[in-house]
Amino acid sequence: MKVLVIGSGGREHALVWKLRQSPQVSQLYCSPGNGGISAEAECLPSDSRDVASLLALAHKIHPDLTVVGPEVPLQLGVVDEFQRRGFRIFGPTAAAAQLECSKGFAKEFMQRHRIPTPQYVICASMDEIYEALEHFHAPVVVKADGLAAGKGVVICETRDEAATAAGDMLTGRMLGEAGSQVVIEECLSGDEISFLVFSDGERVAPLIAAQDHKRIGDGDTGPNTGGMGAYSSPGLLDEEMCSWLVQHIAQPVVTAMKAEGSEYKGVLYCGLMMTARGPMVLEFNCRFGDPETQPILMRLESDLVEAMEAVIDGRISEGAFRWSEESSACVVMASKGYPESYETGKQISGIEEAERLPGVKVFHAGTSMRDGVYYTSGGRVLGVTARAPELSEAVRRAYEAVSRIKFEGAYYRKDIASRELKNN
Ligand code: AMP
Ligand code: GLY
Repeated sequence: MKVLVIGSGGREHALVWKLRQSPQVSQLYCSPGNGGISAEAECLPSDSRDVASLLALAHKIHPDLTVVGPEVPLQLGVVDEFQRRGFRIFGPTAAAAQLECSKGFAKEFMQRHRIPTPQYVICASMDEIYEALEHFHAPVVVKADGLAAGKGVVICETRDEAATAAGDMLTGRMLGEAGSQVVIEECLSGDEISFLVFSDGERVAPLIAAQDHKRIGDGDTGPNTGGMGAYSSPGLLDEEMCSWLVQHIAQPVVTAMKAEGSEYKGVLYCGLMMTARGPMVLEFNCRFGDPETQPILMRLESDLVEAMEAVIDGRISEGAFRWSEESSACVVMASKGYPESYETGKQISGIEEAERLPGVKVFHAGTSMRDGVYYTSGGRVLGVTARAPELSEAVRRAYEAVSRIKFEGAYYRKDIASRELKNN
């Protein structure tokens, strides 16, 4: 079958890499793709922010299955439009993608259905913000309602800081349209877990959990990024907790979405914080996580196409996946300056040597290829990922691979997975 992956990041490279292993796949396309993806799939140009351009592409290549990587085309209704024209596509409709695309929608939905989530108030004016802040202790979290590419959450040490951040969002100075409503939220502490499930609209099948490292600096310091590294190990989430999360979070969300008329099909990413009061939902994403997908798919042993087809056909079962008992770790190499401004076009060397190390796969996020040479083309450049019997070995291998790769201004965190390694 012909499979099309939409997107151009490290997550999409991991999806392409895994889908290519399926015996069912005869032709693999990615649009627009990147330098590294072009070695594993045919990359075709399109504007993933323009559904018409994606549809035109589908009419040209007639994919039997389309997999959507990023959230923006989902918000724009790419699934609705593909389905209307008879194309099989993996992902939620625009209505169901509201769970990610509007934080206000997600918070009210969770409150209606008693899904555990931090206390919050939704505000649309400065008066409402000042009034709401009266009810919160500092630190307090301010979130833009709409999509903000990881930049829509500010953790504020004082209420004054929170008022300023919320004001900047509301006036559109900070994020444009995405900030026209603001969520003020109680600040929680605890370990964060990315818990993803496949849903066929009725039932869910959990994936193995991963932990992201969102801040730019070692020891979780500095501003938030899209994610600087992630790992997945059998020790991250035990079976009992996984069942609890299915029973109390993932399944109720899917059941309630259906009851409200917006059946949720695709992958549902629950961003959780494990607090003293139990697991709480910080956010939903209506897509795979990046970079969590890289270490998660490194541990997947069963056929990803089969599971995606089961979602589309409405026949997913809880045991849809088979996982390796090994661990995996992904270290993101970024351009100097990320998540603020950075330069691109730097030549990259050493990827092949890195991939010769056992258990190592280098996923490309922001690269382009010219005359057989890779160049940087984005903030996050590579997701250097390794698998090994133990987490400590997976981490060691990933960093050894990182040490083989060179480009001017390369930056990476030195402490991926160190919290779990210290605890054990
Ligand atoms: P979100 O996009 O909502 O996941 O937020 C991005 C990051 O901000 C999360 O991964 C957390 O590290 C942090 N964050 C979000 N909400 C809260 C909260 N209520 N308390 C503490 N940290 C939070
Ligand atoms: N790594 C966080 C995300 O994909 O949203």
